[in-house]
Order: sequence, then C-alpha cells, then structure tokens
Amino acid sequence: MEFKDALKYRQSCRAYQEAQITDAQLQEILDAAYLAPVGMGKFENFRLVAVQDKAVLDKMNDLFGNKVGDKSMRPTYGAPTVIFVLENAEDDDLITGANCSCLIENMMLAASSLKLGACYLFGICRVLEKEAEVKKMLQIPDGFRLVGGVTVGIPAEELQQRQVEDGKIQTIRI
Ligand SMILES: Cc1cc2nc3c(=O)[nH]c(=O)nc-3n(C[C@H](O)[C@H](O)[C@H](O)COP(=O)(O)O)c2cc1C
Repeated sequence: MEFKDALKYRQSCRAYQEAQITDAQLQEILDAAYLAPVGMGKFENFRLVAVQDKAVLDKMNDLFGNKVGDKSMRPTYGAPTVIFVLENAEDDDLITGANCSCLIENMMLAASSLKLGACYLFGICRVLEKEAEVKKMLQIPDGFRLVGGVTVGIPAEELQQRQVEDGKIQTIRI
C-alpha cells in the first residue's frame, strides 16, 4: 500500500472481529516499531510485550474495570492482540511519552497498511502500571514500567480511507 493511503486508513479502531491476526502480520507490525526513532537511540530502555492470550487481556480489562468502578469498560475493545510498550523507569515522563508515541505510531501505520485496525492505549496503562498482578502477567522486568500500548486486530467494520481535513490543526507558516 502507498504510504499516503496507509495514513488515510489509520484511525482509532474500537471494535474488532474475534479472529487473530497472522504471525506474519504481527511480525510486520513489530518490525515497524524496531524502525521507529527513540531519543539518543536508547533502544535498550524499551521492551515490547505482544499479548495474544485472551485470558491475560480479559484479566487486564477486569482489573481496569475494578479500579475505575465500571466493570462494563473494556479498554482493549476486544482486540485479539495488544502490544504493550515498557520503558526503563529512569527517564522523565516527557521523553518517555515521546519515545512511546514514536513506537506506537509506527505500529499503527503498519497495521493500517495491512488494513488492520489499531488504537493507541494510554488510559489502561496509566491506571494499571503499578498493579503487581499486571507486572507479573506482562513479565515487566524490575526497573521498567508500562507506558503505552496498541490494540491490533481485524476491524469489525472494514476501514474506510479518510480525507485530509483542512484546518483540523491550526497552523501558521512563517
Ligand atoms: C497519546 C495518545 C493516547 C491515547 N490514549 C487512548 C486510550 O487510552 N484509549 C483510546 O480509546 N484511545 C486513545 N487514543 C486515541 C485518540 O483518542 C484518537 O487518536 C483521537 O481521538 C483521534 O482519532 P483517530 O485516531 O481516529 O484519528 C490515544 C491517542 C494518543 C495519541
């Protein structure tokens, strides 16, 4: 797919089919993360955890629901794959967020180039980052923390390309 088309297919997908993505698709999405930039090239400060075990994702959704007091909330939206980003906790929040977003945007664009749905997950990570059970389930090494994630799956409804909206982000040219 042309890069411009992948950009137009990218959108937050919040409803998925049950079927799993293929291993080749997962690898292509992970490869996109490996091609992302991170500050000062400190790739050793990151870990990716690709979760395809439904029991783990169900448990995370349950823990989130309990924490926020609304058990109907399913913040991973039934996606069969979620790739979590872990970062060495020594860096400050600003650079951590910036690095994480570079990894995740590359993965989202790789997903949309495959006509797969994807959605950035920040909320569930922020709510669950200190939960011992989550640290265990995601095998988070000491010194690392959960900073973001991305859902991936076959969208419940086929993605439609979006057009560029003029003026969506106020911009000046100097
Ligand atoms: C840093 C960041 C964090 C986000 N966190 C969440 C999230 O936790 N849950 C969610 O459903 N969407 C999340 N989103 C998706 C945004 O809500 C979405 O990108 C925005 O509304 C624009 O819609 P679009 O992605 O369809 O273009 C996040 C996006 C970004 C960039």
